[in-house]
Amino acid sequence: MAERTYSKGKKSVSDSLTESIKSVRYEDINGVNRLFGGRLMEWIDETAGIAARRHCGGDVTTACVDQLTFKHPAFLNDVVVIVAAVTYVGHTSMEVRVDSYAEDVHTGERRLINVAYLTEVCVDEKGKPTPVEYGLSLETDEERRENQDALKRIIFRKTRAAEGF
Ligand SMILES: CC(C)(COP(=O)(O)OP(=O)(O)OC[C@H]1O[C@@H](n2cnc3c(N)ncnc32)[C@H](O)[C@@H]1OP(=O)(O)O)[C@@H](O)C(=O)NCCC(=O)NCCS
Repeated sequence: MAERTYSKGKKSVSDSLTESIKSVRYEDINGVNRLFGGRLMEWIDETAGIAARRHCGGDVTTACVDQLTFKHPAFLNDVVVIVAAVTYVGHTSMEVRVDSYAEDVHTGERRLINVAYLTEVCVDEKGKPTPVEYGLSLETDEERRENQDALKRIIFRKTRAAEGF
């Protein structure tokens, strides 16, 4: 199949790279004194949306959040760093990977607490899907691997949707 051409050329993964930094406050804590998962999901969704908007240069809406995995907890006063970048560009959609870390401010060490993949759809002023006009330039082995893996995740999502899940 011929490679798609993009009306505005390509952007690199680093063009969409977005980092949000939050401090866990009392209102972010759940009943067992950990960062409330829903709050982290809000921060992830917001950061992914900005990464996707940086890539497509327009507005986006979140179509799907999947493979959102809570690996470790975060606690009151932790610094949480959320890093998002586009991994794959479809016709109107983009996949964004978001890694969240709890950062030790004394050592600078970051502990991975969450990994998520979101599908963001570029939309026009009426909220309808519109083509992403920039392709994705893959510059590192890691970026190429994520991009290949994204294809597998897309097939998985389509199979899941076709089966009514
Ligand atoms: C997301 C939305 C715009 C898709 O609209 P639609 O009319 O179903 O559009 P399409 O079927 O043409 O799909 C558009 C793209 O989204 C992708 N997509 C749609 N639903 C998806 C899902 N559940 N999971 C993954 N990708 C999805 C399609 O694969 C397609 O990608 P492609 O163009 O790169 O091939 C629409 O369902 C919507 O507005 N949903 C509500 C979004 C929302 O309110 N989010 C929360 C606030 S941001």
